[in-house]
Amino acid sequence: MRKVFIAGNWKMNKTLPETINFVNKLRNFVSQTDFDKVIPAIFPPALYLDRCQDLLQGTSIFVGSQDVSKREGGAYTGEISAIMLKSMGIKYSLVGHSESREYHYETNQDVNCKAKILLKHGIVPVVCVGEQETERDKGITDTIILKQLQESLTGIKPDDNFVIAYEPVWAIGTGKTATPEIARQVHQLIRNWLTSTYGQKKAETTYILYGGSIKTDNLASLLQQEDIDGGLVGGASLSIDSYCRLLEISSHLE
Ligand code: PGA
Repeated sequence: MRKVFIAGNWKMNKTLPETINFVNKLRNFVSQTDFDKVIPAIFPPALYLDRCQDLLQGTSIFVGSQDVSKREGGAYTGEISAIMLKSMGIKYSLVGHSESREYHYETNQDVNCKAKILLKHGIVPVVCVGEQETERDKGITDTIILKQLQESLTGIKPDDNFVIAYEPVWAIGTGKTATPEIARQVHQLIRNWLTSTYGQKKAETTYILYGGSIKTDNLASLLQQEDIDGGLVGGASLSIDSYCRLLEISSHLE
């Protein structure tokens, strides 16, 4: 039985004091509640990873990175390597987020390099895929998603541990969440692709998260869809009250 994975993607938000305040409150909240059905994970800016990791030591809350370099190390100003993340005990990293694809011109091939380098160092890549609004309007959503999966996961094997996040680009930060039915269809497409590429066992154990304007009032209806195993949450993960509420909703699902 998969647990519900609730990943909070902070993007470029919060100062250090705000981060410490959030993490301390989250630690207290999680320690007072029984969250055995939920995997909470926060993805703060890279600057705060080490502090968050320290403050959350010994809890069930994971800390993930929002990105990683596709290179091992060396003269690459401003980049952060998988080995650095590994040395801090970081367990997850996003790759291929639509904002990285758009603002850093990240291609599926870059995503593939990043995913492989993470896996090499024992970090779980959270591989983000999603169609643009114009692609959905043209009716080519499935083709786009399958191409992103194929190219981003080339050479990745069934025993590699990865997570997929389906984030329709038109739903990110827009308040326009995909309907549960739209999300269900794409998640089913991804699950079927995993089955045909990696076999049924791998498909059944791989987490597929939905992301795009998740809020406390729409999370439950999304999670009730069979192939939606959790959420990648931006805006609604920034307030401690809202993030804790998302965890509560996830833990009370039937
Ligand atoms: P949003 O962001 O929840 O603010 O739409 C989701 C994401 O970009 O991961």
